[in-house]
Amino acid sequence: MTTMDRPVMVASGLRSPLGQALLAQLGSDWEVLALGREPVAHQGVTWLRADFRQPQETWRRDLSDWLERRGKPVQALVHAAGTVFSTPLEFTTADELKSTLTVNLASALQMGQTVSPHFAPGGRVVLVGSVDARYASQDGAAAAYGAAKAGLEGLARHWAAEWGERQICVNVVAPGALQGGMGPADDATAERLRERIALGRLGRPEEAAAAIAFLLSPGAAYITGTTIAVDGGLNLTY
Ligand SMILES: NC(=O)c1ccc[n+]([C@@H]2O[C@H](COP(=O)([O-])OP(=O)(O)OC[C@H]3O[C@@H](n4cnc5c(N)ncnc54)[C@H](OP(=O)(O)O)[C@@H]3O)[C@@H](O)[C@H]2O)c1
Repeated sequence: MTTMDRPVMVASGLRSPLGQALLAQLGSDWEVLALGREPVAHQGVTWLRADFRQPQETWRRDLSDWLERRGKPVQALVHAAGTVFSTPLEFTTADELKSTLTVNLASALQMGQTVSPHFAPGGRVVLVGSVDARYASQDGAAAAYGAAKAGLEGLARHWAAEWGERQICVNVVAPGALQGGMGPADDATAERLRERIALGRLGRPEEAAAAIAFLLSPGAAYITGTTIAVDGGLNLTY
C-alpha cells in the first residue's frame, strides 16, 4: 500500500499504553490523526491538540478544518481517551464528575458528530470502555468513571443503529485490569485482582489493542452494537 492509499483514522488516547500498543499493531497501514493534549511521536501520525476538558468548539473546529483540508474519507474512529478519579460517591466533586463524563463519554459522541460528514460507508468506530461499566472495583471507588464507561456501551448501541444504513459498525472494547496506564497502582492491588481473574494474570495493553485491531479489520464487518470484554475472565466465580 502506498502512503497515498492508506485509509484515514481519527483517534484519541494514543499516548496511553493501549494506544501505543494499537499503533504498533497497525504499523504503517493507516494514516492517523491523533487527538490529545501532547504530541504522539509515531511515524504516519499527525497530532492535533485537543484537551476534551476545554470547550468542544475549539478542538471540533480544528478537527473539521483538518478533515476539510485532507479531503479524504475517514475509515475509522477510535476513542481511547479516558480519565478516572478514585473518589467515593459522596466526595465526588462537580468538576470531577464533569471531567469524567466529558473525557470518557461526551467527547466520543462529539468526535462522531464532527467526523460524520467525512465518514466512509463501511467505516468502523471503536470506543474503549471498561469492565468498570459493570463492576465496582474493591480497590478504589470510581462511580463516575463506571457511569461514563457504561454510557459508552449505550452510546455504541444507539450509534450502531443510526449508522447501520451507512454500513458503519460501532462497538466497544472493554478491557479489564491491564498492566500500566490506569491499571492497578501497586503489586498488592494487582495480586488481589489476579485472584478474581480466571486466567490468573493482568492483561497486557497489546491484548486489548488486538481486539480493537480486529474490529477495524475486514473480518469484523458483521459485528456492530456490541461490547467485547478483554478481561481474562474477571469475576467469573462467586
Ligand atoms: N489500564 C487499564 O487497566 C484500563 C482498564 C480498562 C479501561 N481502560 C481504558 O483504556 C484507555 C487507555 O487507558 P490506559 O490505562 O492505557 O492509559 P492512560 O495513561 O490512562 O491514558 C489515558 C489517555 O487518555 C487521554 N486523555 C486523558 N485526559 C484527556 C483530555 N482531557 N483530553 C484528551 N485526552 C485525554 C490521554 O491523552 P494525552 O495524555 O495525550 O492527552 C491518554 O492517552 C482509557 O480509555 C481507559 O479508561 C484502561
